[in-house]
Amino acid sequence: MSTQKELPSWLNDAIIYNIYPQSFNDTNSDGIGDLKGITEKLEYIQSLGANCIWINPVFKSPFLDAGYDVSDYYQIAERYGDLEDFKQLISEAKKRGIRVLLDLVAGHTSWDHPWFKESCKGDDNPYSDYYIWTDARIQKKRFVNGIGERDGGYMYNFYVHQPALNYGYYNIDENSPWQISMDDPRALKVHQELRNVISFWMDFGIDGFRVDMAMSIIKNDPECIGIKKFWSRLRSWFNTEYPDGVLLSEWGNPARAIDVGFHVDFMHQFGTLGWWNLFRDQVDPGQDLDVGFFSRSGEGCIEDFLSVFLEHHAKTKEKGYICIPSANHDTNRPSIHRSGRDLRVIQAFLLTAPGVPLIYYGDEIGMRFYKGLKNKEGAYYRSSSRTPMQWDSTVNAGFSTADKNELYLPIDPQNDRPTVDSQDTDEDSLLNLVRKLTKIRQETPALENNGDIIPVYAKNKKIPFVYLRKNNDDQYAMVVLNPSMNNETITIETDKIDGKTILSEGVTLLQEDGHKWEIGVKPQSFGIFE
Ligand code: GLC
Ligand code: CA
Repeated sequence: MSTQKELPSWLNDAIIYNIYPQSFNDTNSDGIGDLKGITEKLEYIQSLGANCIWINPVFKSPFLDAGYDVSDYYQIAERYGDLEDFKQLISEAKKRGIRVLLDLVAGHTSWDHPWFKESCKGDDNPYSDYYIWTDARIQKKRFVNGIGERDGGYMYNFYVHQPALNYGYYNIDENSPWQISMDDPRALKVHQELRNVISFWMDFGIDGFRVDMAMSIIKNDPECIGIKKFWSRLRSWFNTEYPDGVLLSEWGNPARAIDVGFHVDFMHQFGTLGWWNLFRDQVDPGQDLDVGFFSRSGEGCIEDFLSVFLEHHAKTKEKGYICIPSANHDTNRPSIHRSGRDLRVIQAFLLTAPGVPLIYYGDEIGMRFYKGLKNKEGAYYRSSSRTPMQWDSTVNAGFSTADKNELYLPIDPQNDRPTVDSQDTDEDSLLNLVRKLTKIRQETPALENNGDIIPVYAKNKKIPFVYLRKNNDDQYAMVVLNPSMNNETITIETDKIDGKTILSEGVTLLQEDGHKWEIGVKPQSFGIFE
């Protein structure tokens, strides 16, 4: 089992910025963001206080699922540039102390991948068993018949064009002789292919991967025993080869994912309900629906979030990190049904919480969740979170000089759409708040990623939420959050702070006698104290 000692130390102050490459910055006017565009904006990313970027897939692909359908793991998709551009990006990032994570689409390829094309052939060849094929036509969920020359159907992972790679089964159904064990030499060949891909990019100079659908690798393994075997083997190999490298899983169950070998796991839109308990959409007053903690109504349920978070935190501390993203390319943006001060309180939480923070591109300026877009490259509703970054007030918000109709997705058409340029010079902007908060995080020992969170005042449907952050050297900070429109005054007791204000927007802290503190919160306020 891994211990903190085996964790790369840079994770303890990592702040990730997640870039959706097609929507970030277009430098050749084809309407699609590219690698050069990312390189051009590294200084901006650095100005946010982020020291790591995760880029969604940039590999060769037919783009039926926006690149999560890889047809060559070793090539950069033409629309993003080439290996030279990527080399440039990494070296420029290194100069600025920014680490680079790529997206490892481990579980499946595109049906355009040469491995799959070979695998479809009727005659036996080295790729016949690279995918999961039945030995006859089959009526079963997640299986597709009628493609290729073989007498059988193949299993897919997400969309039908994403055939599942054959890493093997944990439990083999005796009536399905086509299933092979995860330790079968045929499966081990595929395991090796994955290591080759990892090595290629790590040797190229990246710092690790976000691992797509990490729990999907081994089939028929409800207890995750085979999956644990798979990832822990991979992790020990990875630790030896790349001791400073990091694997961040898309799992949504940190206790499990970190136990099987990941350094970091998301608490996000599926799996545990942690993220959902924070961000569940704001509902209109009067509607009888549970709301997430970040609600103007004051009806948010912080205990629901904490019960999940604290359990996972206790199980993963010293072994890995939880990452609560502001959003990602699959979720709503936090700005859905929210604006202005709502987003400030959200950032105040995300950037003071334990674990590795992650800012999804555009959330630092409050980009909107642009509803009603068409399905683009398999995105469906997810298009709304994937619109082009809004840099300034020039044509196409500075994203691209292509014709408006050529853009990957349309730009938020509203006149008052937020931009980097307009917020950059405004001291009170969300952008500058994010910068302040990341700086505070880096400068306040109590806010280290591997520290604890200790609730001081945390009650469902009550505000504020007050917690202490503590690092392993027993240094403390206290954070007060009020996402609601209500005023409140409460009294708490703690001897862990002196009452010095690090940053406050609408929170007052008055020392009563001894260790008693009176906390007054204005609507939608937050404060950080020492
Ligand atoms: C992950 C990705 C998502 C993709 C799916 C299939 O959930 O985040 O965007 O569609 O896997 O690879
Ligand atoms: Ca481009």
